[in-house]
Amino acid sequence: LVVDASVASGRPIPDTLFGVFFEEINHAGAGGLWAELVRNRGFEAGGTRVPSNIEPWKMVGKDSEILLRTELNSCFERNKVTLKMDVLCHDCPANGVGVSNPGYWGMNVEKGKKYKVVFFVRSKGPLDMVVSFRKTKDGGVLASSNVKALAAEVSKWKRMQTTLTANASSSNSSLYLTTTQKGVIWLDQVSAMPVDTFKGHGFRTDLMNMLQALKPAFLRFPGGCFVEGETLKNAFRWKDSVGAWEQRPGHFNDVWNYWTDDGLGYFEGLQLAEDLGARPLWVLNNGISHTDEIDTNLIKPFVQDALESIEFARGPTTSKWGALRANMGHPRPFNLKYVAIGNEDCGKKNYRGNYLAFYTAIREAYPDIQLISNCDASTKPLDHPADIYDYHIYPNDAHVMFNNSRVFDKTPRNGPKAFVSEYALVGDKQAKLGTLLGAVSEAGFLIGLERNSDHVIMASYAPLFVNANDRKWNPDAIVFNSKQAYGTPSYWVTYLFRESNGATLLKSQFQTHSHLLAASAIRWKNAPNKRSKLKIKVANIGDKEINLKISLKGFTSSNLSKSTKTVLTSPNALDQNSFANPKKVIPQRSPLPNPGKEINVLIPPISLTVIDL
Ligand code: AHR
Repeated sequence: LVVDASVASGRPIPDTLFGVFFEEINHAGAGGLWAELVRNRGFEAGGTRVPSNIEPWKMVGKDSEILLRTELNSCFERNKVTLKMDVLCHDCPANGVGVSNPGYWGMNVEKGKKYKVVFFVRSKGPLDMVVSFRKTKDGGVLASSNVKALAAEVSKWKRMQTTLTANASSSNSSLYLTTTQKGVIWLDQVSAMPVDTFKGHGFRTDLMNMLQALKPAFLRFPGGCFVEGETLKNAFRWKDSVGAWEQRPGHFNDVWNYWTDDGLGYFEGLQLAEDLGARPLWVLNNGISHTDEIDTNLIKPFVQDALESIEFARGPTTSKWGALRANMGHPRPFNLKYVAIGNEDCGKKNYRGNYLAFYTAIREAYPDIQLISNCDASTKPLDHPADIYDYHIYPNDAHVMFNNSRVFDKTPRNGPKAFVSEYALVGDKQAKLGTLLGAVSEAGFLIGLERNSDHVIMASYAPLFVNANDRKWNPDAIVFNSKQAYGTPSYWVTYLFRESNGATLLKSQFQTHSHLLAASAIRWKNAPNKRSKLKIKVANIGDKEINLKISLKGFTSSNLSKSTKTVLTSPNALDQNSFANPKKVIPQRSPLPNPGKEINVLIPPISLTVIDL
């Protein structure tokens, strides 16, 4: 491999190139990144009718002691359902009767940590309740607090708040709301959040740390198919996901088949991007779902809704929606500069018409916003204007994925730029739940994107997250349960590409052609500890070890003593990480022996090797 490492050589890689795509799929938000522990907190999972669906709430006590029913008498306009508890027992059991909620397959409660519990309550008499975390299996109490109120205080709806401090740990616990007093109590909007969340913004810290490590340049959100809905009725509606959490109606995520309380809504998506130092990229519903569409001649209200979403993100605090943002604690505008009009809707009956209506209105009101079309312009020009086009790629053959590194080689450079907003190797044979082979095939693809980054300006792996208890899509970059998290090999590939944003791509060429090898060389910014800044990546999709000689032309660096070699590989191509062995396939760094202008490195079979000089 010959690399032109002279100071004057190379061309810039856009500083937007590698980012992340967050979709509410696999409980990425509800039961994932959003640290809320209670599931179906407003008893609304059955929709706005009664009897509603109170799953996964459970009754605590016997039928003779307590009766549960849902009613439509909430103090909140958009989520009317409440839970009525008729406490029938005079001599109730000492542990009390009431309800419990196991959250998302068990709440993780950790000794010494504090949890803020908020709920809304009404009662026919004085209130005397115990709020506690207990182990789901044996009821062992982990934390407990007494909540009392006079009858007059709770004759109308009242917000109650208490802080629980855990005196023991369990990753499979439930929140209990119980009483030993006969009477009638209504509950609504019950929330339990760890006090310690990322920047206090409600995000799970361990998962945020993993995202931050990727240094994502942008955050595409909130979908994906989640934005479209299986039906428009159940599509994501940003207005229902902003404002006070207790007033949000939540909705049924009918594409991925679960209820979401919309705790991680539009505001939180914008906040998430800001907290990661990433540019937000907002995907709008364009009046098209998987099964129904709004005709273009009726699309105006949707366009208006879209304009208002942008006003919410960046309008002045004197504007209607800017004022709501300020009210939620963010008077400064969010840095929203990218808007995608729909997801995977190109070719549908009303896409072009609807797209043009959104495009024209947004361009006129916000000329600086880059607008993204769903139609692929990699092989033929679009029949509509766009700044960027969206490109999704999910092959199930590793060699196909690897060789897709050339997919943009011939695309004319005079059209819109490309955004590879979803890529991954998929399939039960080679990708499974996230294999080394899949990751290396993606590394080859990404090297091709670096090479074509005069045209491809953004790329993100998909999906980002999966709660291992409810896998809707495999593989994913980050796997978690209530307590643990690990990166799949694909996560580690994106990690190893994190310094490419804004770097300089150097010319590099293999002397002998091999369709099993791909390589790139960059000079990157902000290297720590006065290290030199040359980074060479070599992906080998072949099953043979390669003795590679790298020649650096024009390379001048006096201090190479800190040079390293980082290798992502494993004995078997289909090796994966797991909760039992989360570090089976992770990058291993070691000093580079004999660094200099000529380097000999052994490149393992099925590997990504990164050389830092
Ligand atoms: O990433 C999973 C899904 O794949 C996305 O929701 C959708 O855009 C694509 O079909």
